[in-house]
Amino acid sequence: MERLAFAPDRIRNAQAIGYRDEDAKLIIEGLLVTAGADGQPHAAPMGPVVNAELTEWTLRPFASSTTFKLLRARPVAVFHVVDDVLPVVQAALGIEVDLRFEQGTDGDWILADCCHWFKLEVTDWNVSTQRKEARARVTERGVKRPFWGWNRAKHAVLEATILATRLHLADRHAIADDLATLKQAVEKTAGDREWAAWNLVQEFIDRSA
Ligand SMILES: Cc1cc2nc3c(=O)[nH]c(=O)nc-3n(C[C@H](O)[C@H](O)[C@H](O)COP(=O)(O)O)c2cc1C
Repeated sequence: MERLAFAPDRIRNAQAIGYRDEDAKLIIEGLLVTAGADGQPHAAPMGPVVNAELTEWTLRPFASSTTFKLLRARPVAVFHVVDDVLPVVQAALGIEVDLRFEQGTDGDWILADCCHWFKLEVTDWNVSTQRKEARARVTERGVKRPFWGWNRAKHAVLEATILATRLHLADRHAIADDLATLKQAVEKTAGDREWAAWNLVQEFIDRSA
């Protein structure tokens, strides 16, 4: 944890200026893999709230999500830090996902191609809100390969995917403007995977117009 030594100061500073502990936390985005009643893996992009050390986790699946139902039935999941946006888009938009899984311990699934992974066990639920909250502890973690690196197209695709999953909440003109801005980053920095992912998002949004 040497490299994260800034984090306690940051959290203390946040508290000193009146933020609550919760505000000093942040969201990590990646693929959460649960297992169905048939034992098969189910992947969905999720953004849990974490502390900087990645030791405290709160998953926030919507009540309508398959992930919520699967987690209620079996309160264990593996969260993956990934750097390929294509399967993230596919899973978010309900398109067949191009992922390989390896069997973990106790019927869990780990993505064959990920950077690092965290096996999480839900310790308690708050189901009183629309977005359900599951506090979880890390029971196992591993590193598979180094993170490829930052790339603005990957981030732009993620933002566009979030827009696509919230079409019912937003104004169509605002979405078109946001997409045009995001596309500039794609045009400047995307590789084949990012373009393929971008095109899926664009088609999804066009189809639901
Ligand atoms: C980067 C990113 C983060 C997301 N985070 C969440 C989240 O924290 N909770 C949630 O319910 N949906 C989140 N979503 C949307 C879900 O991935 C999407 O609704 C998905 O279809 C849910 O899949 P499921 O119903 O198969 O579980 C996120 C999507 C993206 C692209």
